[in-house]
Amino acid sequence: MDFHKYEKIWLVFGILSLVIFLSIVGVTAFGQGHTPAGGMDIIDPEKVSETAPFDNPGVRQIDDNTYEVAIIGMAFGYNPSEIKVPVGKEIIFTLTSTDVVHSFTIKDTKVNMMVVPGRITHKSYTFNKPGKYLVLCNEYCGTGHHFMQTEIEVYEP
Ligand code: CUA
Repeated sequence: MDFHKYEKIWLVFGILSLVIFLSIVGVTAFGQGHTPAGGMDIIDPEKVSETAPFDNPGVRQIDDNTYEVAIIGMAFGYNPSEIKVPVGKEIIFTLTSTDVVHSFTIKDTKVNMMVVPGRITHKSYTFNKPGKYLVLCNEYCGTGHHFMQTEIEVYEP
């Protein structure tokens, strides 16, 4: 087989780029211990309703300044449907899904979590202003995807 000179150059360039890219990913993942955003915790998606903290979804106070909210994402909503948390406290959102990939995205904040079956994802956030915050699913999850939303009420304690 005969390759044109420029074709050879581009082939070598392409293969080298791939090797460099995979090396960077490999070193950061295995050498520096990078994990997906939200953590590496796993859960049996069939047993979500029996596994803590999802056996009792909702808000729970951990200490004076920290709250955890356990939320289950499913087609096409979130359990619990009503979430109320205090302003100015650290809120740890802990999520999983019972079916397909969803997201938990709080509008106008930096909270944009993947909600993955078989995984537990965490994200810590402190609301600085009381009010109502819209939560949307921004991973396409089926015919009801655009209806999948909820609201967080942030109150002054
Ligand atoms: Cu759930 Cu889109």
